[in-house]
This record gives sequence, C-alpha cells and structure tokens, in this order.
Amino acid sequence: MLFKCVILYMSIEIIKGANDMPTENPTRATFMLFGGTGDLALRKLYPAIFNLYKKGSLSTHFALVGLSRKALTDEEFRAKIIESISSETDDKAQAEEFASHFYWKSHDVTNTDHYKELGKIADELDQKYETDGNRIFYVSMAPRFFGIVAKNLKEQGVLSTNGGFNRLVIEKPFGRDYASAKELNDELTSAFNENQIYRIDHYLGKETTQAIPVIRFGNPIIEAIWNQNYIKDVQITLAEKLGVEDRAGYYDTAGALRDMIQNHTLQIVSYLAMDEPNSFVDTEIRREKVKALESMEIYDADGVKQNFVRGQYGAGDGTPAYRDEPGVPHDSNNNTYAAGKIVFNNPRWGKTPFYIRSGKKLATKTGRIDIEFKKPIVDIFAKGTHQPAELKSNVLTLLIDPKIGITLEINTKNSAQGMHTETVDLSYLQSDARAAEVPLPYERLFHDILKGDGTYFASWPEVAAAWKYVDPVQKLWDTTQPDFPNYESGSMGPKAADELLARDGNSWYFPNK
Ligand code: NDP
Ligand code: BG6
Repeated sequence: MLFKCVILYMSIEIIKGANDMPTENPTRATFMLFGGTGDLALRKLYPAIFNLYKKGSLSTHFALVGLSRKALTDEEFRAKIIESISSETDDKAQAEEFASHFYWKSHDVTNTDHYKELGKIADELDQKYETDGNRIFYVSMAPRFFGIVAKNLKEQGVLSTNGGFNRLVIEKPFGRDYASAKELNDELTSAFNENQIYRIDHYLGKETTQAIPVIRFGNPIIEAIWNQNYIKDVQITLAEKLGVEDRAGYYDTAGALRDMIQNHTLQIVSYLAMDEPNSFVDTEIRREKVKALESMEIYDADGVKQNFVRGQYGAGDGTPAYRDEPGVPHDSNNNTYAAGKIVFNNPRWGKTPFYIRSGKKLATKTGRIDIEFKKPIVDIFAKGTHQPAELKSNVLTLLIDPKIGITLEINTKNSAQGMHTETVDLSYLQSDARAAEVPLPYERLFHDILKGDGTYFASWPEVAAAWKYVDPVQKLWDTTQPDFPNYESGSMGPKAADELLARDGNSWYFPNK
C-alpha cells in the first residue's frame, strides 16, 4: 500500500513538474522597496512579486516595506498594491491576503534617523513572518540616490546581522560613463560585497536572452560553427516604435547609446560572443562574458567616425520630431538612434563584425538577432547546366520581441523540374498560449534574487567593460556637431547606418531580407 502511495505521489509530481515552474522551497524574506510608490514599482515590481507568490516561490514568510517621502497608511498602501496587481488576478481574497504582507513607512533616503526606524521595523517583521533574517533592499529611485541608500543601510544598522542574507538590487542606469559608474560602484561596495549586489538589466530577464546559452552550448551542430570561419556577420536590432514619451528629463541626458547600447545591447553581445563556461553557474558565466566584452576593440576618434552612427528622429507618420516633443530642448543634439560595428580581437571572432543598432520612432517594434553564415566557398550549383538561382547565406534568427522564436533559412531544391535552388525557413515561433505563460522579465529576476542566483544580472566587470567601450563614442559625439534630425519617424533609421554595412559588402537582414 505504502509502495502504491509513493508511486502515485511520484506520478503526480512528474505531471506537476511538466507544467509548473521547477519545484523549489519558497524563500523567506523581508523586502524593503525604496521608491515604493514610483512608476516602476506600481507597474512592474508588485505584479512580478505577486506572480511569484501565486506560483509558490514566496510563502507566507515574507513582508514588504514600501518607502518614499509620502505619508501613507498601511491600508492606503495595500489599496495601491491591490490596484497594481489587478491585471494578474480576479481572486479578491488572494489579492487581499497578498497585500496584507505590505507595510508603508514614510522615509526620506537622505535622513539617517529614518534608517534607524527602518531597522526596527525590519527586526519586527523578521520576527512576525519568521523570515530567517533574510533582507532584500530594492532601490527603485533616481540613480543619484543609489549610493546614499547603500551607505545608510550599512551605517545605520539596517543590514541583517543574524545569519540572514542581505541583497541589494539596483535599477538602471548604472552610471553615465565609466568614471561615474566606478564612483557608484565604489559607494555600493563599501557597504555590500559584489555577490550581494544585483544590477538589473531587464533584457537579461527576457526569454530569448536566457535561451542563447542553451541554443549555443546545448546544440553541438550550432556551437561547432559559432565562429569566424562560418559566421559572416552578426546583427542585433533593438527597435522601438515609441518615441521619448514623457521621459524627456531623463532621456535627453542619456540618449540611445547610454539607454540601450551600453547595457541591453552589449549584454546580448556578450552572450553571443562568449566562450563556453566550465559550468552553468553565475561566476563561470560572468567570467566568460567579461572576457568577451574586454576583447572588443576600443576605437579612437577616427575609429568611432568610421564605425558608429548616431541619429535623431524628425517628424514623420503624423508625429512630431524629437526636438518638438514635450520637455525636449528645441536645439537638442541627443541621439535617439545609435548603430555600430563591433570588432573582436580574439581567435573566435577575429574577422566577423557584430553590427548593433537601437532607436526610437522606428518602423516597427522588434528585438532580434540575425546571424548570417558564410556561403559555400565554391557554389557548385552556379556552375551547373540548369539555370540555377544563386545560393543565399544561411541565416539563424533569434526573435526576442514581440514574438519569441527561432528561424533558420536554408537553401534547398525548388520542386519544379530541373535543378533550381530556393530558400526556405525552418521556423519555431512560440504560440500565443505558451507566450502567455512565459514569466515577465521582472518576475524571473525577482525569482533569481530570492534564490541568490546572479546569472542574469550585470556584474561590475561587465558594466565597466561596456562603459569603457562606449565612452569614446559618447565623447566624440559630445564634442562634434551632428546634422540632426537625420531620420524620419517611422523609418528604419539614418542612411548612414545602411552605409556602415555596405562598406563591408553587407546589408541589414531585417527588414530587407
Ligand atoms: P519615479 O519617479 O516614478 O519614482 C521615484 C520614487 O522615488 C518615488 O516613489 C518617490 O516618492 C521616491 N523618492 C524621490 N525622492 C525621494 C527621497 N528623497 N526619499 C525617498 N524617496 C524618494 O521613478 P521610476 O519608478 O520611473 O524609476 C525608478 C528607477 O527605475 C529609476 O532608476 C529608473 O531609471 C528605473 N527604471 C524605470 C523604468 C520605468 O518604466 N519607470 C524602466 C526601467 C528602469 P516620493 O516623491 O513620495 O518621495
Ligand atoms: C529601457 C529604456 O531600459 O528599455 C527605454 O530605458 C526603452 O527607453 C526600454 O524603451 C525598452 O524595453 P523593452 O522591453 O520594451 O524593449
């Protein structure tokens, strides 16, 4: 009888395992969220935490203290939480139960006394919810506050000292150049160790980014040809249809190079370019990513002129030019588009360029990676007697957004009489039903923070290498006058970005394929 029960239990577990997230012990923790009523917290962070709660990665042993200067009661804060998660559940009782774990504290991050009070609240919540003293500090505020929060948490005694973990989560942007990033990092590391710091890059929480190592290292047929001998060029496109929206205050001081290239794009580059890690653990993966990033050739001013292109959108599609957007100065020289050619000084990639581009107000919203392979050295079909078409490059595409998927273009024979070649797509596109089950990026990232897994967070050496790479580009752009606007809203960016590839005899695969 006992044997039968065990078998039945095992079968249920196997069935569950096929549909659910991996079964793991729920983590106990107290969250302290700085910027608790901010846009990001309300739109993304609370729904992400709720989904983890719903799926069992958080048990009843958790509490969250929301923090900002506002004076709110716990009830008022909980009402905001219920509103914030309303798109994730129709179960009122569950939403209320979840929200009952939330507490509000009016807190000015520059006031040291407020941290002392926070420390007491954290102790009480540790006891009440039996969180084993585990603490997660999430700083979702303007970047100028990142350092001061870390310092005060340590100096005013808010860190757990009874064996629980202390984890610090930092939103973007992480600095605006290498010097400011280093200064920030020095501030953070005077209070927390590198392995306690989780630098958010939400592109690392996306399904396709996380799939890159599996697609590469889990498939010998792919990894065997993942080098300059077989790959002609790699193209990464992170295109947005939206413009600056209501973020001119931040965006006009950042631009596409800082906002999308230094972080998201170069993180994707590092996954595509890295060598195989010894094992799939964060320390090993980060080591290989850093090696890849550090082997990108850093350009001097001439190199930047030849290999990078900037753009700013003009009017188009019935919408205003960037310079006429609310909050943007009429003479702004900010880049809303950036493209570049990355060259690696390493044996794997020596002669293969990585072309990258990202911009706002482009023709379509898409995140994609197109890998163009070399054609056969000798095209025997071109020498045939059957009027063949020319063979095309094989192209492997990894779709990030809005569709998730993989496609591979290969040459085959056309079914008509005679030897004519044609190109067909082998394609896997995630179904809408499956895509709806994919956890949102912030949900995945919270899950990893709870588990203490830094794989999908940017380590300091990666961030440093990325800034060292983009700094000379930004410097040249800051000191030379652009001819803006140079692309129409609704187009695919400036002509100069097409010329960048044309000089190498290449062209953007998307949308011209
Ligand atoms: P918001 O401006 O919406 O929120 C900022 C929060 O900080 C508010 O809750 C504000 O509350 C609080 N705050 C400001 N000054 C103080 C202070 N002295 N002491 C305590 N609290 C203070 O910002 P977002 O939510 O948009 O952005 C937060 C972070 O997330 C930023 O680093 C941003 O770059 C990043 N981010 C945001 C994204 C988004 O979509 N919003 C996307 C990607 C990253 P109060 O005024 O009550 O003090
Ligand atoms: C953010 C940038 O990091 O990424 C925004 O600050 C940009 O400017 C956004 O719009 C794009 O993210 P996604 O996930 O919509 O491609």
